[in-house]
Amino acid sequence: MAGRLEGKVAVITGGASGIGRATTMLFLSEGARVVVADYNAASGEETISRAGQQGHVDRVVFRRMDVADEQQVEATFQTALHRWGRLDCVFNNAGVGGAFGPITEIAVEDWDYTFAVLVRGVFLGIKHGARIMKAQGQGGTIINTASIAGLSGGDGPQAYSAAKAAVVNLTKSTAIELAPSRIRVNAICPGGILTPLLHRGNPEAVRNFLEKFQPWPEAGQPEHIATVALFLASDESRFITGATIVVDGGATACGAFAAGRLHSVSPLPMQGLAGVDRGTTGELAVVRSGASSG
Ligand SMILES: NC(=O)c1ccc[n+]([C@@H]2O[C@H](COP(=O)([O-])OP(=O)(O)OC[C@H]3O[C@@H](n4cnc5c(N)ncnc54)[C@H](O)[C@@H]3O)[C@@H](O)[C@H]2O)c1
Repeated sequence: MAGRLEGKVAVITGGASGIGRATTMLFLSEGARVVVADYNAASGEETISRAGQQGHVDRVVFRRMDVADEQQVEATFQTALHRWGRLDCVFNNAGVGGAFGPITEIAVEDWDYTFAVLVRGVFLGIKHGARIMKAQGQGGTIINTASIAGLSGGDGPQAYSAAKAAVVNLTKSTAIELAPSRIRVNAICPGGILTPLLHRGNPEAVRNFLEKFQPWPEAGQPEHIATVALFLASDESRFITGATIVVDGGATACGAFAAGRLHSVSPLPMQGLAGVDRGTTGELAVVRSGASSG
């Protein structure tokens, strides 16, 4: 039976780890050809190696890039075009924790870094992905990873939450604009997902926290998001655009109590500190001050 993405070409940012890596593997197993685009060359090469072990070596390539750099984003799409001659799907998924700490202590450069990765990165992915898709004239699908943190306050640091809220809104605006070209733009809002962004190599330390964070008894896994990305990338979702799909094991169903649950079970040792978390890019986090959180 033909895979659901047979003949399609996808660019997946943040494809080297977590949700992006799981989506890369799923898309490959459904017949797609994939450019894994990521800042971290070591985890990127590891992803390619795993894909090779599963027999997909000819349908996957790694491109080291920074989603916040326009030239590098353009070059990434050119990789897809040179190699496979087309582009059908962009998954704007790269992310970091970004600025953390009391709002009174956040450094402007940490705020700007957070928005550069999480919002400028998605903007550039939509801009250059849509240019190619419009020129092809056959439509396409763009998927943006937002977060439940973008739907309310309290589910993440302020800069991260604000950036993800921007992703939700940019998804709607561009879905309207690109619909006449049959380019669909949708967002996924994951809840707590057991990826290296949260566990940094020690999943068991975070699993227990995630199992208490949401009503659903098991922790969220990257594959839970990958299957939704597959649905949005495939023709099965052909009438869905401008949508924000929450995939969170019921966390946001808790309404006003969701943030309280997070704070009551969070293992994150960041209280009272301010700085910037550069996620799993390979760049170190910076702690700028041990300010009080009052
Ligand atoms: N894990 C969760 O609980 C969770 C929840 C909600 C949303 N998200 C979002 O899901 C997305 C994927 O996160 P994940 O949990 O798989 O994290 P992850 O750290 O496992 O993977 C993120 C990848 O993005 C890459 N990246 C970061 N900055 C980049 C840049 N400037 N240019 C290119 N690549 C860059 C990293 O190198 C890494 O490989 C992110 O946008 C994140 O904000 C995650």
